[in-house]
Amino acid sequence: MAETFFEAHGLTKKFGGLTAVKDVSFTIGREEIVGLIGPNGAGKTTLIRCILGILRSDSGKVLFKGKDITRKRSWEVVQLGIAGTFQVVKPFRRLPIIANVMVGCLSPRARKRGEWVKRCEVKARDALEFVGISDMALEPASVLSHGDLKRLEVARAISTEPELLILDEPFGGLSPAETELMAKSIRRLHKGGRFGRLHSEGPAMLIIEHKLSELMKIVDRVVVLNFGEVISQGTPAEISKDPKVIEAYTGKEVLIA
Ligand SMILES: Nc1ncnc2c1ncn2[C@@H]1O[C@H](COP(=O)(O)OP(=O)(O)O)[C@@H](O)[C@H]1O
Ligand SMILES: [Mg+2]
Repeated sequence: MAETFFEAHGLTKKFGGLTAVKDVSFTIGREEIVGLIGPNGAGKTTLIRCILGILRSDSGKVLFKGKDITRKRSWEVVQLGIAGTFQVVKPFRRLPIIANVMVGCLSPRARKRGEWVKRCEVKARDALEFVGISDMALEPASVLSHGDLKRLEVARAISTEPELLILDEPFGGLSPAETELMAKSIRRLHKGGRFGRLHSEGPAMLIIEHKLSELMKIVDRVVVLNFGEVISQGTPAEISKDPKVIEAYTGKEVLIA
């Protein structure tokens, strides 16, 4: 049997007396886009921070292409091919936009190959072109609108050429038009091709998002968290009918418009 592309097994993360993530298990296939949803405070951001090596989980395992990456540091996780964007965007505001992207792809591995700056610049330019802000590459990041900062985040992540891309609320704070544009970029990226110099095939994805009607149009499968636990998994159609999911969302958010 082929190994599973990505697997989380029984991940648990506590903050003092609070168990933010509790015994979470799920998989992502190489070709899949998986949505991660749940009410505010459900543990979504904490879960992906554990996967990305930003937080250390208390127990459980993360396997990527059969390799145990549970205790890897964040930069090692990026080198292995998993990159993420963050819910709260914090660029180096006075540095040029392109430098903000290059921060992500200047890796020790690139240095060993003697490609330290040049290759990284090419990748950064490609990534900025992909998200549509390459004409502003030399401006300081402070000129960017919130919507463009979200695109800068995506550029920074994809410039590392991930095989798994994790997005934390990519539509957060975007207008309907900007949301549509971001959704299009995500689909195009997943298909591969146009971002061709860097990717022959697009990355698998894990996407956290509150704008559920937009998210459901993009994802193959959904994992639902509530109080740190997985309460449901399945296709958008399946989870939207699950009584446990409906109950978790009652009076909070509209599940599917
Ligand atoms: N660094 C932290 N220290 C203490 N508690 C935290 C920390 N980060 C998150 N939490 C708590 O963990 C729970 C899950 O938070 P979070 O993962 O941000 O949820 P979500 O992203 O689903 O909204 C919340 O109760 C939150 O207050
Ligand atoms: Mg969050």
